[in-house]
Order: sequence, then C-alpha cells, then structure tokens
Amino acid sequence: MMMMMTATISDLAQQAHRDLAQRLGDALPAGWRAAYDAHPRHLFLPDRVWVRIEEPLDRAADPDRWLAYAYSDDSVITQLHDGAACSEHGYPISSSCSMPAVAFTMLGHLDPQRGDRILEIGTGTGWTAALLAHQLGDDQVVSVEVDPVVADTARGNLTRAGRRVLVVTGEGAEGYPPGAPYDRVIATCSVHTVPYAWVTQTRPGGVILTPWGSTFENSALLRLTVDHRGAAVGSIVDWATFMRLRTQRPVIPAEPEDFDTIADRGRTNVDLADLLGEHARFGIGLRVPDCRLSWDLGEDGYLSTLWLLAPDSWASVHDTTVRQTGARRLFDEVINAYSWWQHAGRPHRDHYGVTVTAEGQQVWLDDPARP
Ligand SMILES: C[S@@+](CC[C@H](N)C(=O)[O-])C[C@H]1O[C@@H](n2cnc3c(N)ncnc32)[C@H](O)[C@@H]1O
Repeated sequence: MMMMMTATISDLAQQAHRDLAQRLGDALPAGWRAAYDAHPRHLFLPDRVWVRIEEPLDRAADPDRWLAYAYSDDSVITQLHDGAACSEHGYPISSSCSMPAVAFTMLGHLDPQRGDRILEIGTGTGWTAALLAHQLGDDQVVSVEVDPVVADTARGNLTRAGRRVLVVTGEGAEGYPPGAPYDRVIATCSVHTVPYAWVTQTRPGGVILTPWGSTFENSALLRLTVDHRGAAVGSIVDWATFMRLRTQRPVIPAEPEDFDTIADRGRTNVDLADLLGEHARFGIGLRVPDCRLSWDLGEDGYLSTLWLLAPDSWASVHDTTVRQTGARRLFDEVINAYSWWQHAGRPHRDHYGVTVTAEGQQVWLDDPARP
C-alpha cells in the first residue's frame, strides 16, 4: 500500500504562524515572541470570518484561505452589524481580531512591567488579552467587552488557550472599578473623548493607551500618563485606526434627497490633494466636529467628488464646484480649519496632545499650555 504524505492543519498552521512572525520582523518585539508563540492567532478565530463586509469566508469551505487570512498581517473581521442578522443595522464591522503589527506596536507603547495590573477595553476575540496574560499573569488582566456574544466567545477562546483572564461583559467607558487601580489601561476600540473613569481607575504614574480621533479622521494612538492631581496628560505616539467604542460612534448621516436642487453653489480653487493629506485631515477634524469625510473615485481612479456629511448638513466638491446645504456650511468650516492648520505650520499628527481631567478633555498643540 502506498503511503501518502499529507500535511495536517496543525502543521500548516504552525508554518503559517512562523511565516507571519518572519514577515512582522521588528514589528514583533523580541520580548513578545514567547507570548506570540504560546497563543497562535487562528485558535482565537471563529469558523466564519469576513474578508470584506459582503464576503464571508468559511473555514470548512476553504480551509487554506481561512488559514492564510488568520495569518495575514490584517485585522480579521469576526462580527458584522453588532451581530444582527439584518444588514440595515448601522455600523457594518462591529468586532475583529486586531492587525498583528498594530497589536504588537500598541503592546510596545503600553510597555507593561512585571507585576502590572492591566485593564483592556474591547476584548474582541481575546487574543490581545491572552498575549497580555502570558506576559503578566492571568490574575493581572481584566478585559471588558460590551457585546455579550463576543464576550462569551472570547471566554471560550481564552479557556481553551489555558488562560483564566476575567472577561467582564459591560460598558468599557466605565472601566471596571472592582479591579482598580490599574497600572495600564489599553483600549482596542477608538474614542473621540477619553472617558474620565479610565483616569480615576489608573494609579498615578500609570498609562492609558487608546486609539483616538475625530469623526473626520480617526487615526491616532494616544498615550497618556496619569498624574497625582487626577489628570491624564500625553500625546499622539503613533497611528492606529480602530472601530469606535460603541457609545462614541458617530451618527450616520442620512442621504440628502434633493441635494442637487436645494444646495447653494460656489467655487473653490483649494488644492484638495493637500487638504486631504493625512496630517491636514487630522488637524481639520479637531476643529470640525461631527463631520464625516468620504469621496467618489472617477473611472480613472482619481478623486471625482468629495463629500462632507453631518447629521443635518451636507456638502460636496466636484472639480471647482462646491455645493452646500443644511444647518452648517461644512465646506466653509473645513476651509477655515484647513487655513488654521496651514497658519499653525502644517503640524503633523504627533504634535498634538490631550489633557483629560474631571472637567473634560482638552486638545493642545506641542505644549499642554497651548490649547
Ligand atoms: C477591534 S475589536 C478588539 C480586538 C481584540 N483586542 C482582539 O485581540 O481580538 C474591538 C472590540 O471592542 C468592543 N467594544 C466596542 N465598544 C465597546 C464598549 N463600549 N465597551 C466595551 N467593548 C466595546 C467591540 O465589541 C469589539 O469586540
């Protein structure tokens, strides 16, 4: 009888796991390699994932592609529409396993030390919680997840991985007071306003690391240090684009019905390519609240129409023609903010910082005294 040599799923998974480590290179710091090896990512993923919103990928139907996706340096979508069957239900992507390079970059910025207590906001699959627990010990990590189904699945994943991390089903903006004080708080969903509960639950000298940004441009990673006066102060240390904390999601604006007929018309000669540069967008977003940016591309792949959308106002720019309608003149607001950004010396994203106190959040440029 002829023996066929076939690779098992676990051989293939081990190879894919090693290959991803190699591709990550320095993005996987040496100090986190043992945690990475102890917790293979595919063990935290459900059998059905989504490559894109419209594109489910079932492990049974295409195991090779499923495994390749599990070991891509990409976030893996694990839940749509908050788990609702209906695609009409708002926010399309509602849970995922973080992109490995970003997860390890964040863990590097978090820089937890032996003996630290960690609060994670947004358990997702439980993979980040497992990496933290491997590094610091199961009892040192608490993770809060708002979605009960996601939280239950994460508990199962963590238990199968041999971890005894406390996963709390609850509102992440409230932290988890029974586990406080924490040395480190890490959010793996993004906020526009840092919840003050995270500050009060972090010991003086402790660190809060969170994706942060405006409705216009949600792309920053903020690292704050808590001081003895009950304030947290820090700056943008990297880029990171994450799904929103559910309680801070922007309102999805409705499409204006007769936009073309009711909108005011004007002209602009502004350089849209410059205005849409990542640092300009970030600065503009800080001064134009609750405004979404989107665009249509032409057949040539270049920008055709730029859209600015708020719950009660809309604007578009096509060639040099500007159309605006609603309670706000969104394009005028954007142009004013863009001109502020130019006069401020075209600051990069990492020049901004944030101070969070019981009174609220203040954003500053270069110096906490320069709001
Ligand atoms: C990008 S995923 C987290 C990825 C996770 N760290 C992992 O390794 O799989 C973000 C998670 O934040 C959760 N989330 C969103 N809003 C939340 C809230 N208000 N409180 C707690 N969790 C929240 C989402 O349900 C989602 O599971």
